[in-house]
Amino acid sequence: MLAGRAPTAVFDGQSQSHADRVCDRWSDHPGLFDLFARGAFFGRYRALRRTTVDRLALSRGDRVLDLACGTGPNVPLLADRVGRSGAVVGVDHSAGMVVAARARAREVDVPVHVVRADAARLPLPADAVGAACCTLSLSAIPDHLRAIQELRRVVRPGGRVAVLDAQPYQKGPGRLLNPLVDGLSALATNWYPDRHLLTDLRAAFGADRVDIDRYNGGTAFVATVTV
Ligand SMILES: C[S@@+](CC[C@H](N)C(=O)[O-])C[C@H]1O[C@@H](n2cnc3c(N)ncnc32)[C@H](O)[C@@H]1O
Repeated sequence: MLAGRAPTAVFDGQSQSHADRVCDRWSDHPGLFDLFARGAFFGRYRALRRTTVDRLALSRGDRVLDLACGTGPNVPLLADRVGRSGAVVGVDHSAGMVVAARARAREVDVPVHVVRADAARLPLPADAVGAACCTLSLSAIPDHLRAIQELRRVVRPGGRVAVLDAQPYQKGPGRLLNPLVDGLSALATNWYPDRHLLTDLRAAFGADRVDIDRYNGGTAFVATVTV
């Protein structure tokens, strides 16, 4: 299924090498990354991952893509749903993340393929998978618009895409915190807080195909797309 294309970033070499450097560093400290993410999601981190996987409505035997899989925290949840007759395909551009995700994949008794590739140029044929998730990553992938187009291409019509991500406060007094959060994130992550991911998902898939659940004052969301 994997076409074996070289993992070339086509967006902007500098943005991608910055992302890779940051993520390679985090991949050496998966526990620390979990702690950071838990803080960012006000303790809802694990629950929101489960909700995201629930939204995919997976069945035994399904083939599911985990786009920008990081160290693979979704892998056990996805593997549990698709079972041994199914498969999980993880894709990430950071070499360190791929190593960490492969280690995590060895802990589950389900076929898991972790590939180093660019989300904007997936080495997968059209309609390759029945579902895909992308957690905490559309806001971090340099060319996220092409990554969304790739999700549309590789998920079969009728399949689902679930996106978990974070955004700054959009309204209310919480907005006063945005500069602080943006500053800390710029130091520690490759987050692009100014993106309008929900608008981008609606534009790519059609507004009537995107359902949104918002959490934590709107700073976290799970978007479920029916392709
Ligand atoms: C904040 S981490 C989230 C990882 C994981 N999905 C999670 O939920 O913990 C963002 C991930 O996006 C990956 N990434 C960044 N640019 C990418 C690209 N062009 N293609 C694939 N993955 C990319 C990073 O390497 C990193 O693993």
